[in-house]
Amino acid sequence: MALILGIETSCDETGAAVFDSQRQKLLSNSLYSQIQLHTTYGGVVPEIASRSQLEKIDEIVASALTKAHVSFAHIDAIAVTNRPGLVGSLLVGICFAKALAWSGKKKLIGVNHLEGHIFSTFLKKDYTVEENIPFPHLSLTASGGHTALYLVHDFGKYECLVQTEDDAAGEAFDKISKVIGLGYPGGPKIERFAANVKFQDFYSYSRLKKARTELFLSFSGLKTSVLYHLVNQGLYDLQTSKLTQPLDQEMQERIASSLLNAVTDIFESNIIQAFKRYPAIKAFTFGGGVACNNYMKNRFKDLCSRYKKSFFAPAPEFCTDNGAMIAFVGSYKAAQGMFSTFSLDAER
Ligand code: KG4
Ligand code: ZN
Repeated sequence: MALILGIETSCDETGAAVFDSQRQKLLSNSLYSQIQLHTTYGGVVPEIASRSQLEKIDEIVASALTKAHVSFAHIDAIAVTNRPGLVGSLLVGICFAKALAWSGKKKLIGVNHLEGHIFSTFLKKDYTVEENIPFPHLSLTASGGHTALYLVHDFGKYECLVQTEDDAAGEAFDKISKVIGLGYPGGPKIERFAANVKFQDFYSYSRLKKARTELFLSFSGLKTSVLYHLVNQGLYDLQTSKLTQPLDQEMQERIASSLLNAVTDIFESNIIQAFKRYPAIKAFTFGGGVACNNYMKNRFKDLCSRYKKSFFAPAPEFCTDNGAMIAFVGSYKAAQGMFSTFSLDAER
């Protein structure tokens, strides 16, 4: 198995990529992001997402093949995300991959999107594979739909140590960003506004006492903390669920910065717990859309050097949803002979 075509359509991004298993090199990574389609609604609208997937999939897969300078005939296997995600969106990729595999007599490989994020950390900016990430390592994946810490034993062998009890970290950024009038997607805006006030922590939002002594992730309480902070200042009306007046930029910056500090601290205490509990951990990796955040990356880098663990995070194009991570997981699954049948279906 040399060339793997990876297809990702689990949410609001249509991604396709070609990975060369023999040379351990990514040949292309094409993406269409629907962010613009959803901004007016303040979040992803599933119906719009699946329709857009259908409109773009053909073009994005063709673009991945063209950029890789390979024809479809040269592809050996097709890896596609089949879980978890929005069912309508997932089905577009799965049906497309199945049809391609059937008509071209190619192998089919169903890939777990979360496994994609865990191993996306191996993808380097120059499209080669990072060779220095040791096993076992600790992997934090944080995005708009999921947030968890994994103990990673080998390629495809990992266990979830803790996952969020409620909202994902990216979801907390997105929801609070909407409340304070910064819009969707929240993460990049929160980071930009926090940078304006040098990432200071003004309001000390709730840190989860539980996370200091055990592995525990939860982010929905942060939204409540921010809301009550605004209510107490007469800036938010709980009856109408609206601001009583637009916030000035200084207030938005202070909230954004305090929020970023709270989320980072919650992660830090969980990472420390995991390092203490599993002394065999040699490195720490950080993936998912939230791993685009430079402030967090710098904090985690410092933490890792204090605990003598190496730190890895992929380039931003491999943090947010992409086809490359699916092609990469597909490549080692192919090497392990883990193929899917045509009964492959979408799973939430
Ligand atoms: O991985 P991803 O593209 O999609 C999901 O699988 O959910 O992640 C999108 C999430 C959004 O919630 C977005 O706000 C967050 O990643 N995000 C960030 C940053 N860039 C994107 N969060 C914090 N800081 C950023 N710079
Ligand atoms: Zn994702």
